[in-house]
Amino acid sequence: MKQIRLPLRVLVVSASPNKSGLTAACATAAIEGIGGAGGVADEIRLNDLQVGMCQACNGGWGTCLNEHECQVEDDFQALHARVLQADAYILVTPVYWGEMSESAKAFTDRLRRCEATRGDRSGLSGKPVIAVAAAGGSGNGMITCLLSLERWIDHVRARKFDLIPVNRWSREYKLVTIRAAAQAMVLEAPHTSDRTL
Ligand SMILES: Cc1cc2nc3c(=O)[nH]c(=O)nc-3n(C[C@H](O)[C@H](O)[C@H](O)COP(=O)(O)O)c2cc1C
Repeated sequence: MKQIRLPLRVLVVSASPNKSGLTAACATAAIEGIGGAGGVADEIRLNDLQVGMCQACNGGWGTCLNEHECQVEDDFQALHARVLQADAYILVTPVYWGEMSESAKAFTDRLRRCEATRGDRSGLSGKPVIAVAAAGGSGNGMITCLLSLERWIDHVRARKFDLIPVNRWSREYKLVTIRAAAQAMVLEAPHTSDRTL
C-alpha cells in the first residue's frame, strides 16, 4: 500500500461586497501564504453567491438537526460540500457594527446548524481555522467580531489557529501577518485528504 500526500486544501471564505477593499486584500494575502507553503486555496466570495439566512424551519430545527443538511435550497448546499472537502479554513469578514458581515453570518449560521449537531463528528472537527476581522472605518468592533467567530469555531469543533484583527492603520503589517499565518497553518496542519492506494 502506498500513501499519497495530496496538497493541503484550504478554503478561503471572504464576506465583503467590495471586491477591492480591505477584506479582499486580506484574502489575497491568505491565498499567497497558502500557495507559498505548497497548499491549494479554494477561494469563495460569499457575496457572489446566493446564500440566504437560516429560516429556523419547523419552529426551530429543520433537517439540519438530524440529517445535517440544510433544507433551504440555494448555493449553500454546494458550498457545504466544499467546506467538508477542505483540510483548513481562512474566514475573512469586514467588521459591520462590531459584528461579522451579513453574508458571513448567513453562511456561518447555516453551517453551524449542520455541523455542530454532529458533535465530535463535525466535518470541521479538529481542522484549523484562521479568522480575520477587517475593520476599515473607526477601527471599533474588531474584537467583538472575533469573539463571535471564536464561539462559532468552538461550536463546529474546529481548532483556532489564529484570530487576526486588522484596521486601516495596521493594514500593511497585518497583511504580512496573514500571509505568514496562512503559510504556518499549511505547514502545520494534518492532511485529512491523504489517500492510501
Ligand atoms: C454597515 C456597515 C457597518 C460598519 N461598521 C463598522 C464598525 O463597526 N467598525 C469599523 O471599524 N468599521 C465599520 N464599517 C466599515 C467597514 O469595516 C469597512 O468598510 C471595511 O473596510 C469593510 O471591508 P471592505 O474594505 O472589504 O469593504 C462598517 C461598514 C458598513 C458598511
